[in-house]
Amino acid sequence: MEKTAVDNAAGRAAALDVYDFKGGMLVKAGAVFKAGSVERLKKEEIPFVYTAGGDISVNAIYNASTTAEMLKVLWNFMKTGGEKADILKCYSIDQVKQFISYSRESSAKLAYGHVLGFFAAVMLKEIKNSVEKYYDFYDYRSRESYNNYHAVNTACLCGIIGANMGLSDGEVIDLITGAALIDIKMGLYEFVNENRGLNALEKEEMSGHAMAGFEAIRGIYGIPSRAAAIILRHHERFNGGGYPKGLKNSDITIPARIAAVADVYDSMTSRRPFRAPFYPDEAWEHISKNSGVLFDPDVVSEFKRTVPKYSPGDRVVLASGKNAVVISNAYGCPETPEIVIEKNGQSAIISSGEEAKNYVVKTILSMR
Ligand SMILES: [Fe+2]
Repeated sequence: MEKTAVDNAAGRAAALDVYDFKGGMLVKAGAVFKAGSVERLKKEEIPFVYTAGGDISVNAIYNASTTAEMLKVLWNFMKTGGEKADILKCYSIDQVKQFISYSRESSAKLAYGHVLGFFAAVMLKEIKNSVEKYYDFYDYRSRESYNNYHAVNTACLCGIIGANMGLSDGEVIDLITGAALIDIKMGLYEFVNENRGLNALEKEEMSGHAMAGFEAIRGIYGIPSRAAAIILRHHERFNGGGYPKGLKNSDITIPARIAAVADVYDSMTSRRPFRAPFYPDEAWEHISKNSGVLFDPDVVSEFKRTVPKYSPGDRVVLASGKNAVVISNAYGCPETPEIVIEKNGQSAIISSGEEAKNYVVKTILSMR
């Protein structure tokens, strides 16, 4: 496949499904992007899509339809504050039966937590079924709908890192559930989305979202306390410099330490009203440099094995000064992707680790 800027997508076939921030299908894999769908993607502020043809391979771990289900649940959750009656109206009787059978809960008591847990369990199944254990972050994002995409992206990252670290099935499911809800109360602070920095008072106010989210979620039936605890602790930092409690090291639970890394990586690589997105390698370096400072070194080590430094389809510059395009990645080899470079007028796919001059130095185009 190819990574294609939305401006150039018309007339090309979609290689992967594209969903909006509510989990609604925008373009199905295999369908050709028409002028109307390109306009819709632009309206959603989705910067790029994957199109058919080309050499790049993306290890997405999760089915796009599964992450779309998470977007749908969370969108409804934010609208209703987690009231249980509303969510079930969005599903067929057969789907509700699946939730009942998964949660072993009666239909009268079925609530958001059970639906979230069900889809978190589907995500875990997809992690286990994936032959490759690294995660190309092929997420779609839009500036307008940052919160919902960010929630699901963070949950996806947490799931694969947690599973690769050897957490139990139940722990991974609760980690995905909690990670999807970490910023559930961020909507209270509208100034966060303004095109400016925050003053000290606003920063202080905004930091209340961890406690506010925890207080709101802990009272919702069906959400495990282990998941709710992640919301409370996702801004704690390894060196004690975080909030709300300033906890240190092992006083912060492992799932919350994983969520801290995933939250920062996804947030940094997202376009926000008040700043341009960082390239994936810049965010990756930030996490790496803060190992043992802001972040748990064990979590950072697994993050670096699992999340490649360079994204497939991105343009990079090599030590030789030549430009190349990232083609594919591998688990445990984050800094040496396969790349394609021009050689004697012809393009050739090589391993960027083969010769010193072919080492990737930095990303120069990521279409974010
Ligand atoms: Fe947060």
